[in-house]
Amino acid sequence: MMTRRQASAGILASAALAAVPVDTLAQTMKPLALPPARGEGGVPLTQALRLRHSTREYSDRAPPMQVLSDLLWAAYGINRPSGDRTAPYWRHVMVIDLYVAMADGVWIYEPKSHALLPHSKDDLRAQTGLQDFVATAPLNLVYVAHGERMTDISPEERRLYASVDAAFIGQNVYLFCASEGLATVFRGAVDQAKLARALKLPDTQFVTFAQTVGYAGA
Ligand SMILES: Cc1cc2nc3c(=O)[nH]c(=O)nc-3n(C[C@H](O)[C@H](O)[C@H](O)COP(=O)(O)O)c2cc1C
Repeated sequence: MMTRRQASAGILASAALAAVPVDTLAQTMKPLALPPARGEGGVPLTQALRLRHSTREYSDRAPPMQVLSDLLWAAYGINRPSGDRTAPYWRHVMVIDLYVAMADGVWIYEPKSHALLPHSKDDLRAQTGLQDFVATAPLNLVYVAHGERMTDISPEERRLYASVDAAFIGQNVYLFCASEGLATVFRGAVDQAKLARALKLPDTQFVTFAQTVGYAGA
């Protein structure tokens, strides 16, 4: 089994690769520094649990940058000096990257610098799911798994553990949205292979789930 140190070294190498935008146009995009996440506030947890629900009608209003920053931190940001995250993850190996599909392109959340790294200039929101609202909702998160980081297990187990990791992040997103008056839905109705192609993922990576975030409305 890989040690934590070996796993971390692999992750750093992969993170450096992931930081290279996949399309030429995206190479003109600059990393987007997010404002520091506030990491405080919100409603009590019990109230957030009472408010948590899925939404399938969205306005096209985009969340302000501070809200996006707080959302991504709550989802899978760093919450300890060790670099560990707000969500638990399989065997202490970080396999999930959060891709953020917005009107201005696709970005990858980089928790260490708390920034969005450019991935594609294309608006791929419509490709992130099989339901109509995904094309116009301001923000779709795509939970992409690095299969190559999950050694010593079968492809089925890779899917399983990557899905569990994604679901924990998804629940953080649900509770953050409930607390902040945002709307969300975790989604399995995704053409994973088609989306992986649209995102130009290498063969070793795969799409698990997606999650729409925005404000409720038609
Ligand atoms: C694994 C999983 C996959 C889901 N996939 C979808 C989906 O593709 N589209 C959708 O609209 N809702 C999806 N949902 C949301 C569920 O339909 C929703 O959580 C359930 O109906 C209960 O409603 P609530 O979240 O409002 O309590 C999914 C939820 C989970 C846990």
